[in-house]
Amino acid sequence: MSFGASVRTLLGRFERPASTAYRSLFMSAEALALTISSLSQGPRILEVGVGDGLVAQHISECCPESSMLGIDLCIQPGRMFIGDSDRVSFRQQSVHDLLLEEPAPFDLVLLLDVLHHVPESERAGIVESCGRLTAPGGLFMVKESCRVFSPAYPFFVLADRWIGGDRAVSFLAVTEVEQLVLASVEGAIPIARHRIQPWGVNVLTAFRMAATASQK
Ligand SMILES: C[S@@+](CC[C@H](N)C(=O)[O-])C[C@H]1O[C@@H](n2cnc3c(N)ncnc32)[C@H](O)[C@@H]1O
Repeated sequence: MSFGASVRTLLGRFERPASTAYRSLFMSAEALALTISSLSQGPRILEVGVGDGLVAQHISECCPESSMLGIDLCIQPGRMFIGDSDRVSFRQQSVHDLLLEEPAPFDLVLLLDVLHHVPESERAGIVESCGRLTAPGGLFMVKESCRVFSPAYPFFVLADRWIGGDRAVSFLAVTEVEQLVLASVEGAIPIARHRIQPWGVNVLTAFRMAATASQK
């Protein structure tokens, strides 16, 4: 168990506020959710790699008319979500397995801080599956902690390696994120790039799927 996971277990009922405060040192989840909702308010949202659901909670609050599905390989995805469970649901599932179910495509697909935790050889496959799950004309957004020149960058690396416990974490440059999506998802058109407070390390890139896209 990572150092961070051990501390979370010890915190008991204080885990939620402590996790929220810890994460806000690195990124404002409110700012991320507001940026996402300013770009898309589609009726159906998918978050791939939703984790404990704290970020999903902010997104669902900023998109009150949308339904949202969060999937993750982890045990109990969305376990910290305390929002509207009529609109938001979670499943323990990989993006590839969801794709095999052939669900109706989603208006907005989110991949938030997942890629730098995934081995390089698996990244294109995950991104491609996300693209296939996005409706023609819909949006696919990738948020990454990126490899940039910033005094904060070393702290992101240390936190993921030694507190999060992912010794294999490997950050992408901003241009590498865009190149990965463009190489993996046919019909993806970059439409926006936003830095998310409080650090320039946090970069959200949004892609619109061509209306007649046929993904690779
Ligand atoms: C650092 S967490 C990010 C959680 C959340 N998106 C957030 O921003 O707080 C990355 C998550 O991606 C999940 N993940 C990695 N590969 C995945 C895949 N192929 N399908 C679904 N989830 C995946 C991991 O289990 C992990 O929970």
